[in-house]
Amino acid sequence: MKGIILAGGAGTRLYPATIACSKQMLPIYDKPMIYYPLSVLMLAGIRDILIISTPRDIKSFENLLKDGHQLGLNLQYIIQEQPKGLAEAFILGKEFIGKDKVCLILGDNIFYGHDLTKMVRASASLKSGAELYGFTVANPKSFGVAVLDKNDPNKLIAIEEKPENPKSNLAVTGLYFYDNDVVKIAENVKPSARGELEITSINNEYIKRGKAKINNLGRGFAWLDTGTHENMLDASIFVKMVQSRTGCYVACLEEIAFNNGYINKEQLLEAANKHKNTEYGNYLRRLYEEN
Ligand code: G1P
Repeated sequence: MKGIILAGGAGTRLYPATIACSKQMLPIYDKPMIYYPLSVLMLAGIRDILIISTPRDIKSFENLLKDGHQLGLNLQYIIQEQPKGLAEAFILGKEFIGKDKVCLILGDNIFYGHDLTKMVRASASLKSGAELYGFTVANPKSFGVAVLDKNDPNKLIAIEEKPENPKSNLAVTGLYFYDNDVVKIAENVKPSARGELEITSINNEYIKRGKAKINNLGRGFAWLDTGTHENMLDASIFVKMVQSRTGCYVACLEEIAFNNGYINKEQLLEAANKHKNTEYGNYLRRLYEEN
């Protein structure tokens, strides 16, 4: 399975912080935001990853993550000229996806919770159809919202994009697993009233075909929003709290690469040396010494 991280958008809701810099490059506590979605793809065992961003920002992602070899990944980059909507990811990524299945994760989505690895690994081996992830939120109007069957709460009837009167509190998160049909479906999506190729249109097509499943992330999980400065600060505090309490890092890419067998001990040490005199570097050195 291939992976795509969509890290585009004008970021106007976070001005002035994003006037000259990509939203997905802003720090969530101690690392750039994009580390968090990238860590989810890595936990799912996905190594071929396409990063999509704006003409202005693509270079800074390349400067940050390079070709991915230092993490045992194959990273590629492509520009989205205009913010035409999330579904365009599959059109821009058509050649990259080829005949494969694909997982899309939004560059501003943060996931944390027990068994996340198990869940995303299972989704990464999906045979056909679409697998989505739902999370109960207090403010469903801000998201794509699942409409569920009254008799079978695991059955999706439709998804409504940012509805005025949400039919449930179950938001559809920005983590989507699809079979190869997604490319053709995306090519046939028509722009919505706000002029965007909506991911929700793709998901509704899978639902119509009876081929969409939603995994409810449940109360033990955290799906964190980064839509406002306040949300970002909350996410930073959450990450800091988990890291200081447990001594385990959230979204430490080198740790995941090492645990997955993508990089060896020497490469782990190299990464520790590169982050010398930082807590992150100390953490990597500790991992090196413990192994
Ligand atoms: C997008 C999707 C929405 C989804 C959300 C998750 O909204 O359109 O369905 O719930 O991501 O982060 P956006 O935040 O891009 O407006």
